[in-house]
Amino acid sequence: MYVLGLLGSQRPDGVTAQTLKAVLKGAAKTAKVELINLNDYVILPDQPSQHNSDLDLIENKLLKADVWVLAAPTYLGGLSGVMKNFLDCMRNRIARFNAVGEAVPDRFKNKHYVTVTNCYVGSVENMVTGMTDAAFKTMDKFLTMGGLIKIREIVVTKTFGMSQLSAKKQSECERVGQKAVQRKERDDNTMKRYVELFLMIAVMALITMGIEAGIGQLIPLQNFWAYYGVFVIVFYVLLASILHFFTVVKHRRH
Ligand SMILES: Cc1cc2nc3c(=O)[nH]c(=O)nc-3n(C[C@H](O)[C@H](O)[C@H](O)COP(=O)(O)O)c2cc1C
Repeated sequence: MYVLGLLGSQRPDGVTAQTLKAVLKGAAKTAKVELINLNDYVILPDQPSQHNSDLDLIENKLLKADVWVLAAPTYLGGLSGVMKNFLDCMRNRIARFNAVGEAVPDRFKNKHYVTVTNCYVGSVENMVTGMTDAAFKTMDKFLTMGGLIKIREIVVTKTFGMSQLSAKKQSECERVGQKAVQRKERDDNTMKRYVELFLMIAVMALITMGIEAGIGQLIPLQNFWAYYGVFVIVFYVLLASILHFFTVVKHRRH
């Protein structure tokens, strides 16, 4: 197993670097690890008939690595420029593009990844405003284009004036790194997803019936079609909220 960490922060020894090093430290117990600071490379977009040696070098390391750890701070509510520039320049290499420009995963498919970001705001403010969401989303968008499989996100909040990672965060990151290298080559979560779906429907049906019982106290719902109509509406609202949460806003924020 080989774990490659990519650092996209302005500070080589800041919070982002420490977080990345902690993940790699955990992974190093059983795997070979390497950290690349993107600032040390000249990262430019590919141009016809021009060598792009630094990007070639990083691409080769990415091909060899089983797990990628992308670590970049949140700057101005988005992904740091250093990391964003790297993703933009790598975009044409992360996947094959078909005749209509759609990304088709190929060489990086089924590798695994961990993403890391941080912010000055505290966990409650991050929970409410989703300050770090955009950084995660940008990294996820790029990585899923390549068919990579996500393992975990790590967030560090309240970084203003922070010179060292807390002992709790340090051990959380080491644990993530340690677990990341124990992954199977391919993930088959089909069974897990069916069980989750079953539980989700069971809980939602229970909540819906509870709400209906409450509504039934106010308006009569003995008629089959009235009961059915209210059930469909309440169930739909709950389902839409849950799907929105899981597909749009679900990012680690503390
Ligand atoms: C240019 C710049 C912009 C930043 N923008 C934000 C921001 O919009 N929101 C926020 O909560 N933190 C912001 N931060 C804090 C960073 O997200 C980060 O937590 C901090 O720089 C620590 O990372 P580092 O030690 O790796 O540099 C910013 C920092 C810098 C240097």
